[in-house]
Amino acid sequence: MKNKDYTKRDKESYLQTFKRYPIALDYGKGSRVWDVEGREYIDALAGIAVNVVGHNHPVLVKQLQEQVKKLMHISNFYVSKPQVELSEKLIDISGLDRVFFTNSGAEAVEGAIKIARKYSHSIGRGGEVISFEGAFHGRTLATLAATGKKKMQEGFEPIPSGFRQVPFNDTTALKSAISIETAAMIIEPIQGEGGINIVDDGFFKELRNTCNDHDIVLIVDEVQSGIGRTGKMFAHEHFGIKPDVMTLAKALGGGVPIGAVLSNEKVSSAMNYGDHGTTFGGNPLACSASLAVLEIMEKENLVQKAGEKGEWVKSKIRELNPPGFKQVRGMGLMIGVEFDFETQDLVAKMLEKGVLANATAGNVLRFVPALNISIEELEKVIEVMVESIEELA
Ligand SMILES: Cc1ncc(COP(=O)(O)O)c(C=O)c1O
Repeated sequence: MKNKDYTKRDKESYLQTFKRYPIALDYGKGSRVWDVEGREYIDALAGIAVNVVGHNHPVLVKQLQEQVKKLMHISNFYVSKPQVELSEKLIDISGLDRVFFTNSGAEAVEGAIKIARKYSHSIGRGGEVISFEGAFHGRTLATLAATGKKKMQEGFEPIPSGFRQVPFNDTTALKSAISIETAAMIIEPIQGEGGINIVDDGFFKELRNTCNDHDIVLIVDEVQSGIGRTGKMFAHEHFGIKPDVMTLAKALGGGVPIGAVLSNEKVSSAMNYGDHGTTFGGNPLACSASLAVLEIMEKENLVQKAGEKGEWVKSKIRELNPPGFKQVRGMGLMIGVEFDFETQDLVAKMLEKGVLANATAGNVLRFVPALNISIEELEKVIEVMVESIEELA
């Protein structure tokens, strides 16, 4: 069975919501993946910022094998050792007080919105959530409302109410948007899907102060930027900001689906028994994967290395200054290369040449590889990018 056969079968069976590249991936090791015809690729996308320790990491594989033999799933009516250990670990590294586990980023954001609204109502404020232009918070109905993109919302009306969007990095617009109805602000420290846009330091601090002044809940969405990707465990640490609520997913399980919403004691205390729930969220298998990921990151010093490698990539691209290059931005290994052309064809050309990357915000090429990708692999990725641009020119 070849790539084209699987592609055909996929087209006939899967709900056609993704425009997929015509390859069927079969297995991976580190930052390399192979398709069903045995062709090798360097993976600079890592499942969109998910496979943070690479594919097939022996420590993660071993931990999962052991956990599968013991217990994969129990009801959240009972306690499990992996979940307790992971809760404690996340509290320890985040400085927040409570954790709730989910299966995805959108679910983590949904949970964050519920916690924020419950707290807000408990202090006599409304339930409105303010997000920022260029944001991406997910594809469920409430997170789509927070994401705010009309194109993604069209045809799915009625979109849940209680959401408002203001320009990113605009303090005046932010201040004029708030009222007694405002429950929460939700922000990505680095907008991932929006094109790798970093929040202004002054704006982020002003946002924190404004939330403090009005007792508005600050939700920091670290679904894409969290777990070491930016050269700190959480991207908000670069700005000296502390969220009231933080969402995580993607890299948290290194490929096993798990998300989390963390909150401080103040807002957590508004939640009572029965206020939220999940069947799968935080099951022993997913939590043990996450514990292994965090252990690997610590042992291999991957957070610091992500910061160093990211700086190397950015300076290399600036130095090469390929045709059409406008800017390279990002933190750690969350990198966007902006061009004066749409990057869709570039991504397809790079795939032909054996590199996986993706296009965001039209003219941005995004690299979010595993944090243990080697410098040689990164060098190859950049070389293929430049070659592909030259060939397309
Ligand atoms: C910042 C952010 N929040 C939320 C989500 C939604 O996560 P998921 O696709 O796991 O639902 C994403 C996904 O790209 C994201 O980047």
